[in-house]
Amino acid sequence: WSPFVVSAPGKVILFGEHAVVYGKAAIAGSLDMRAYALVTPRTDNKARMVLPDIGVDVLFDSHTLPLLSGTELSHPSEVEALVPSSISIPEGPGRTAVLTFVYLYGCIFAESDRTTGFTLCVRSLLPVGAGLGSSAAFNVALSATLLQLTGQLQEEGVSASDSKLINQWAFHGEQVAHGTPSGIDNSVATYGGFLKYIKGEPSVNLESTHALRVLITNTNVPKSTKALVAGVRALRDRYPSVVDGILDSIDSVSTTAATLFQSTSEAEETLEQQMQDIIRINHGLLSTLGVSHASLERVREVTAARNLASKLTGAGGGGCALTLIPNGMASGDVDVVARELEAEGFHCYQTVVGGGG
Ligand code: MEV
Repeated sequence: WSPFVVSAPGKVILFGEHAVVYGKAAIAGSLDMRAYALVTPRTDNKARMVLPDIGVDVLFDSHTLPLLSGTELSHPSEVEALVPSSISIPEGPGRTAVLTFVYLYGCIFAESDRTTGFTLCVRSLLPVGAGLGSSAAFNVALSATLLQLTGQLQEEGVSASDSKLINQWAFHGEQVAHGTPSGIDNSVATYGGFLKYIKGEPSVNLESTHALRVLITNTNVPKSTKALVAGVRALRDRYPSVVDGILDSIDSVSTTAATLFQSTSEAEETLEQQMQDIIRINHGLLSTLGVSHASLERVREVTAARNLASKLTGAGGGGCALTLIPNGMASGDVDVVARELEAEGFHCYQTVVGGGG
């Protein structure tokens, strides 16, 4: 076989974070920041995974990798025991990548009688741990690679059933990485575009023709998603009717956004104006839930001074903010805003939301 490249995008939550935990709608979209896997054949029947961005380079003898037909994990930590003893498991994000590789290799190769040696090198433009779906993009690229190597995908293009299979395995990869993921990150990385998501229901592709220009600002302030989610829960326990009202409003924001994405009748500027309004409203609602942070408010101030709307994205408490960039705004002017934000110690990415999976 010839070398091939697979890629998958990261994601950003546009609307509905935190409320989604309580069964409300959330909207997420794909980023044009992607993970790229280059897969090349080897003659020695070994499997090598190289992740230069996080310092991983592991070489497996294929016969030492367990085949895991029907292996159900009751806890992701069980994968550790499956890693061949010749491999030392790295610390940090590399650890998750190695465990996911061993698990998905074992499961996907068990579905086929093929063996083949290969080198998989993955580079990613997505910052790790910033809430932009870097692990889901990795898991989608890895699943597609292993399915392709075992002849489980169609020869040309990616069919609907291919996508479904890739998404299912990427979800299992996310379970190894995160325990109990919602499934939205791997769905966005597989299908791209904009998805509406409600917990426990299949995500709905909004089939939008609009792409959004956004500026993502990483405040570099570390956050604990778990602590922030717990904080909202504690507030709701104390003031149930007040907080439920806020969560319902966030749900309305998400459903309004879904309608806007699907709208074909409105002029682009009207849509942009409405999108800016609901971005501001969503951030305000999240802020009343106590999940904003001084750094996120600073992003809002700096961008508001340029008439741009921003909101936190993901768990809040630091992490990332997103700013909608009007289509008519010159990229030189966006650079000016980005420089102002970077002068505050933040890191900015100019990107487009809603591209392919
Ligand atoms: C975190 O990226 C999004 C939250 O809504 C938590 C969750 O959905 O699990 C805050």
